[in-house]
Amino acid sequence: MFQKFKKKEKEVAEIVQIEEPSPGAGIVQICNLYKSYETAAGEFPVLKNLNIDIQPGEFVGIIGKSGSGKSTLINMIAGIDHPTAGAVFVDDTSVHGMNESEMSKWRGRNMGIVFQFFQLLPMLSVLENVMLPMDFCNVHLPRERKEKALEMLDMVEMVDHANKLPSAVSGGQQQRVAIARALANNPPVIVADEPTGNLDSHTAEAVFGLFEMLVNQGKTIMMVTHDNSLARRVTRTILLADGELVNEWLLRAMPTLSHPQMLKATKAMEPLSFAAGQKIVKENEINDRFYIITEGFVNIALNKPGSENLVVNRMGPGEYFGEVELMNGGHAIATITAAEIPVKVISMERALFEELLNENRDTKKVIEAMVSRRVNENKTARSKK
Ligand SMILES: Nc1ncnc2c1ncn2[C@@H]1O[C@H](COP(=O)(O)OP(=O)(O)OP(=O)(O)O)[C@@H](O)[C@H]1O
Ligand SMILES: [Mg+2]
Repeated sequence: MFQKFKKKEKEVAEIVQIEEPSPGAGIVQICNLYKSYETAAGEFPVLKNLNIDIQPGEFVGIIGKSGSGKSTLINMIAGIDHPTAGAVFVDDTSVHGMNESEMSKWRGRNMGIVFQFFQLLPMLSVLENVMLPMDFCNVHLPRERKEKALEMLDMVEMVDHANKLPSAVSGGQQQRVAIARALANNPPVIVADEPTGNLDSHTAEAVFGLFEMLVNQGKTIMMVTHDNSLARRVTRTILLADGELVNEWLLRAMPTLSHPQMLKATKAMEPLSFAAGQKIVKENEINDRFYIITEGFVNIALNKPGSENLVVNRMGPGEYFGEVELMNGGHAIATITAAEIPVKVISMERALFEELLNENRDTKKVIEAMVSRRVNENKTARSKK
């Protein structure tokens, strides 16, 4: 299969050819996804060349300010809307390349969709709403469909309400029916756009718990949410800022930066790689960079009288180093070495680090606290016999 897209924006003004999804990559693959709308004021880009790879079984939270492009992204993955350029593969199927009728059949079998405003059909009973996707996609034998739908309703604890109309049950209950409907054909992937956005916190918790249960059963879920406490509980967070992706490791390491700061740092940070055993920072030498680990582990070692390079700590993905020297004059207080396997990091220069902290008091406080903790740990380790 082979698709050609003409990109309109100057910066992406070339023909992009996207063939098959890369083998062995995720269950959802988003490649150079670009979406713009024609408006009276001209072309308005909403998603700017996104690349995302989601592995089976991940529970992904999609966050970002209003208007950052979260719903647009979900709609591209669900095939509800088409990209201007780029590709979306779900389970190796090119979602971007299908026509409407292929799409609705495929979607019914392969993707469960849950919206903020449940979107149940008001004149059908709860049970009939759940059976609808089975009938539409001809999944399960007709005589088995009712039983399967009741099983789904039982899972979301709505089986006792099966014969009621949606209007006769609460909002949280309607959302649980919508989740049962999304699961009707046992799709591997579920996308949800603010599924708890219209629910009180107690009901939102119950619906979120249902998603956690589905992830534990092996489903892959991508969920847009504005709720920070829920966003913290997913296994992976994707932050959209003005239609662009923030580096996920940066988000993890410096979550208090503003979104524009994160975007700036995402673009400025340099990916670096170190072979196993290679020294990244050397004790007593100047370190002028800030590092966030994205893969592998580093050892933190001290030169002590009688014991050179004594390993006192270890750090892994999402943790950072270099800040002590950047805040305290430059000379490294320890040696940091790539451990057994090669280490990948993203790194920023002193000037950007200082700019971000000067602009953002919260982040400065967090980093200062980390510096004082690490300096104390360092002293303690040195003083030990
Ligand atoms: N059909 C359209 N025509 C023109 N612009 C659109 C259209 N749909 C969305 N947009 C614009 O695209 C941008 C992203 O919209 P989107 O709905 O994806 O944001 P969102 O992150 O889901 O926001 P919210 O948190 O408010 O739901 C917004 O600026 C929006 O105004
Ligand atoms: Mg939205």
